[in-house]
Amino acid sequence: MEQPLLEVKNLTCGYQNKPVFTQVNLSLYRGQLSGLVGPSGSGKSTLMKAILGLIHPWAGEIWFRGKRLQPGTSPPRVGYVPQVETVDWNFPVTAEEVVMMGRYQKQRMLPWASRGDRTAARELLNRVGVAHIARQPIGELSGGQQQRVFLARALVGEPEIVLLDEPTSSSDLQVQHELLHLLADLNQQGLTILLSTHDLNSVATHLPWVVCFNHGLICQGQPLDIFTPANLERTFGAQMVVFHQEDRILIASGGTSLRHQMQRNLPPSLLQGKSKSA
Ligand SMILES: Nc1ncnc2c1ncn2[C@@H]1O[C@H](COP(=O)(O)OP(=O)(O)OP(=O)(O)O)[C@@H](O)[C@H]1O
Ligand SMILES: [Mg+2]
Repeated sequence: MEQPLLEVKNLTCGYQNKPVFTQVNLSLYRGQLSGLVGPSGSGKSTLMKAILGLIHPWAGEIWFRGKRLQPGTSPPRVGYVPQVETVDWNFPVTAEEVVMMGRYQKQRMLPWASRGDRTAARELLNRVGVAHIARQPIGELSGGQQQRVFLARALVGEPEIVLLDEPTSSSDLQVQHELLHLLADLNQQGLTILLSTHDLNSVATHLPWVVCFNHGLICQGQPLDIFTPANLERTFGAQMVVFHQEDRILIASGGTSLRHQMQRNLPPSLLQGKSKSA
């Protein structure tokens, strides 16, 4: 059987005395493009941080290419695009400098940029579609642009795996769509990708594999098989409706809609459209 590129074995993580998840097992195979979904606070970012060695697991192991990593160390050639809300955007650097920082990590610790660094940074900013803002301070960019700069930064180290924490959260639909296509292209070129998101429909449309997470692994597989009302309820603790159209699915919240709830509480006069316009 194929050896996983990255393997999480019996991983338990938490903060202070509170566990977030226990005994998680997850394998990422070379060339996999996977979505990580689960409710807010379920531990998606914590899982990524543990894989990256940014937090110390309480128990368990992380293996990369068949070798166990020392706890708290970062696997080689793994890129990371953090959740935008967690970054200090007041840091006085330009987009291009942010990308070049990723290159220093790969190479050496010289305090200046070489022409090669700058060229690589420019090429990647171009690749992710934001070359025009290369000289702008990172704090002055839109959320979607900041995420692309961080994607360029993750890619400049020539990683084998990239972990992206909610890369589409700050973008409009068109930009989200473009980013997912870009990730699919990178994946076609051999990059292994795990991205967390709250956008189940994007996962269903664009990603071949989904991992459902809620303080532990709930299930994983192809979105068409995995996104069933039962699995979604197990993952999110909420009822959802899944519409099928040929080989596509659309997921919608299945509980009583807010509009219906509000209508139930409104006086009949308002419901009959008696409001006046000037
Ligand atoms: N640095 C921290 N110190 C203490 N508790 C933390 C810390 N970071 C996260 N937590 C807690 O751990 C739990 C899991 O958080 P995590 O950020 O991993 O969830 P998530 O699934 O990424 O959520 P979201 O979808 O909102 O990003 C939450 O209860 C959170 O409050
Ligand atoms: Mg998170």
